[in-house]
Amino acid sequence: MPGDMRPLRALLCLWLVARAALGSRVRTRRELGPGLYQNGVYDAGGSYCQRGDVCCRGRDDGCTVPYHDTLCYCDLFCNRTVSDCCPDFWEYCLGIPAPFPKAQGCARAGLNYPTGATYRENCNLCTCGPGGQWQCEDHACLMDGELIDAVNRGNFGWRATNYSQFWGMTLEDGIRHRLGTFRPSATVMNMNEMHMNMDSNEVLPRHFDAAAKWPGMIHGPLDQGNCAGSWAFSTAAVASDRISIHSMGHMTPALSPQNLLSCDTRNQRGCSGGRLDGAWWYLRRRGVVTDECYPFTSQQSEPGPQPCMMHSRSTGRGKRQATARCPNPRTRSNEIYQSTPPYRLSSSEKEIMKELLENGPVQAILEVHEDFFMYKSGIYRHTPVAEGKGPKYQRHGTHSVKITGWGEEQLPDGQTQKYWTAANSWGTAWGEDGHFRIARGVNECEVETFVVGVWGRVSTEDMPHK
Ligand SMILES: *[C@@H]1O[C@H](CO)[C@@H](O)[C@H](O)[C@H]1NC(C)=O
Ligand SMILES: *[C@@H]1O[C@H](CO)[C@@H](O)[C@H](O)[C@H]1NC(C)=O
Repeated sequence: MPGDMRPLRALLCLWLVARAALGSRVRTRRELGPGLYQNGVYDAGGSYCQRGDVCCRGRDDGCTVPYHDTLCYCDLFCNRTVSDCCPDFWEYCLGIPAPFPKAQGCARAGLNYPTGATYRENCNLCTCGPGGQWQCEDHACLMDGELIDAVNRGNFGWRATNYSQFWGMTLEDGIRHRLGTFRPSATVMNMNEMHMNMDSNEVLPRHFDAAAKWPGMIHGPLDQGNCAGSWAFSTAAVASDRISIHSMGHMTPALSPQNLLSCDTRNQRGCSGGRLDGAWWYLRRRGVVTDECYPFTSQQSEPGPQPCMMHSRSTGRGKRQATARCPNPRTRSNEIYQSTPPYRLSSSEKEIMKELLENGPVQAILEVHEDFFMYKSGIYRHTPVAEGKGPKYQRHGTHSVKITGWGEEQLPDGQTQKYWTAANSWGTAWGEDGHFRIARGVNECEVETFVVGVWGRVSTEDMPHK
């Protein structure tokens, strides 16, 4: 028996993965032993230990057990008084009774589960505690059935839905990983504001859609995934459209957000947020390549920023040239696109409309509240549905988007609802094909607070020949 002890002493579990953190992934999944998945509760079942000298050599062996939603290595880690990942350590591995009372287990849907068993209730993990009680986390979830129903019953002018890509995330995670624009500082807020020459009698159309006016030049909504880099996505989106429009369709580049995320690092934090003025500075001074040349690869789960793979140098006459090949080996054209300095528009609804109509889509910041993530269709306004659910629901964060048009709708009571149409960067499965409409003229969620336009830097040689 003592000869058996040495390898056995080296038994038991080591968590491979912190399962609580968002986006944690099982890195190794060699084999899944027999387990029991019942009513959403996972119990690995069977024996958690292996006998014999088969484990723990250099820690890269097959001696793993599936447990909860990850795999464990056998290790001394489980020699603790609260049995959590290897409940039979004492009895099976050491052959002695556990020095603490046998766990009672927890009941769920008429079944009993051992201490340490877990299940997920949306964004909250519930664990069977030593006292025989389920203990659940208490986060506000990004998708919340009650709130969705409240929006859809409430006649707010828009509909909410349950997005599977957001299900299981906390509201805090959504705000931390799905937005990513720093609020413009006071100095930036004061940047060269431009006033359009507005004739007070000027009649603007009731509906406007940039894609109808400039066919083939307005790029579709992007998808930032769990990268909090909307600063780079909205800037690339607006610059792509503006360069296409100002070159009269001669160039229609879809510019690379990744180029900004990885290379515009001065006071910028990549997928942890960034400033719009910094992004435009980079587009003006350095320029960026196309998305095809430098595709989006950053995901929130990757540690740290990725190195810049696309530097550029000046070739004189204000033009720049890439000094590297495209990160995408299948693309040869590493042309750099630049913009002129951006200009801030006034917050006047009419001036924003006129700019859109004459020069193309504009960039706007947007204060995102808990109900915006659930938006499916209609004219968005922030609703009070989460009021009364406690402070953990009263979270918001700054985002940025591309406004592409406007319109109005008649309500049954005869009132007119005016709206902006904007492209978000949460993929085309979100909202109205990746777009949303939001109340216009009332600075809803600050959408009219900070609006930016820009000119593509298009030299005469890039222009179509007459
Ligand atoms: C378990 O841990 C305790 C204290 O940490 C230690 O005294 C004991 O020897 C360990 N038991 C085994 C079997 O490793
Ligand atoms: C939302 O969708 C997820 C899967 O996509 C599903 O598991 C969940 O039950 C849904 N919740 C509600 C409230 O509809």
